[in-house]
Amino acid sequence: HRRERNIAAQVKNRLPQRMLDLLKEAGELGAEIGWEVYAVGGFVRDILLGRPNLDLDLVVEGDGITFAKRFAAKLGGRVKAHSKFKTAVVILDDGQRVDVATARLEYYEYPAALPTVELSSIKMDLYRRDFTVNALALRINPGRYGQLVDFFGAERDIRNRTIRVLHSLSFVEDPTRILRAIRFERRFDFQIGGQTMRLIKNALGLKLFSKLSGTRVMHELQSIMNEGDPLACLLRMQELGIMEAIHPLLSLDRERIQILTELVKVHNWYKLLYLDPAVVPWKLYILGMTAGIKRDEIGQVTGRLHFTQKEERDFLHLRDMIGEALMKLMGWKEGHSRLSRLYKILHPIPVEGILFLMARSRKEYIRRNISQYLARLQYVDIEVNGKDLKNIGIEPGPIYTTILDRLMTAKIDGRAETRHDQLNLAKKLNKELSASLESENGD
Ligand code: CTP
Repeated sequence: HRRERNIAAQVKNRLPQRMLDLLKEAGELGAEIGWEVYAVGGFVRDILLGRPNLDLDLVVEGDGITFAKRFAAKLGGRVKAHSKFKTAVVILDDGQRVDVATARLEYYEYPAALPTVELSSIKMDLYRRDFTVNALALRINPGRYGQLVDFFGAERDIRNRTIRVLHSLSFVEDPTRILRAIRFERRFDFQIGGQTMRLIKNALGLKLFSKLSGTRVMHELQSIMNEGDPLACLLRMQELGIMEAIHPLLSLDRERIQILTELVKVHNWYKLLYLDPAVVPWKLYILGMTAGIKRDEIGQVTGRLHFTQKEERDFLHLRDMIGEALMKLMGWKEGHSRLSRLYKILHPIPVEGILFLMARSRKEYIRRNISQYLARLQYVDIEVNGKDLKNIGIEPGPIYTTILDRLMTAKIDGRAETRHDQLNLAKKLNKELSASLESENGD
């Protein structure tokens, strides 16, 4: 019998009480039904690494869906089951998600004297995974709670900071694992192991990437963009020839690397300052990755990455808006140009585009004013609405849009700060606009 280290003390130290309660409940339910239950994957890896991770993945040596239903009934929550894969997601009443999978017992329905089903089914489940560091399991049934199941030397690899596959066909089975290897390597500051690196180069030599669907490549790219340091991953991809393998137009030249470097800085600044979840990282970084690609060639990239029609339309539109804004910003001079002009240039552009413009601006004062826009101007609103215009006797019609627009401009330029000022200005504008309209009609 292999010795299993017990890490219950680390588990207790590194997880919030709520998570400890969930583990205990899940283990007790397992014991009640008579199934062995494990926490697995990144959750266990991150306990050993001392990094908080609240994405709980369970594997049940039994029937995962039945387990999920009973778990939800016991704790209060609902279940989404995928009977085809024998997996389920439990969404507890407080929003916590727990993924439940079934250790595939059917693999072992051989007659001969094999090791106990109990041990080998979790082993097979772990063996199908990408890297040793992700192929760990933690027993949570009472009596064995906290025992670390490590068949493949994951603890040693974590100690040596190494990303290593479990078998030599891993990348052939699933080439997206090449991108995952790079992502984990950069995230944890690990090294891809020597043999694993040879297998990656071999897989790239076999052109496995060209067979990979755009959807899957895009999905991995998005995960990379969500990392703390996406550029490190992209540079590693470039170094290994993966950018070109995805599409020759995506090769990172010095210009793009410089833009991406600025994008990371601007993005980190924005995240720190505003904690704004509205920035979608891939929408930001894809602008840098495709900088310099001509309009009539960009379709090759969006096609390769299998953008949806809407994604493609939005992306092309964003690039056009950015191009236009860059021209207009060249004519905007601090101290001479109005702030409302800057507002009008930037306002139609989604935040990813604005961050890109900031990253691309060479002039310090343009960057400073764009940051002003992001910090303050974009949220400016006037104190007057259509109802107020009606109340002061302005005839409803298209003139309302014009007046409200002008009020906004005036407020941004500091010419109508209060509601009182804005109502007065509205009256004045109404007179002027009606007069000019009348004279037009009189012509
Ligand atoms: N997995 C795999 N091959 C893939 C994707 C996933 O073997 N192409 C396995 C990994 O072992 C991983 C598990 O499925 O541990 C869950 O995948 P995911 O949630 O993507 O991985 P995490 O390790 O939890 O990564 P992250 O920390 O980024 O959430």
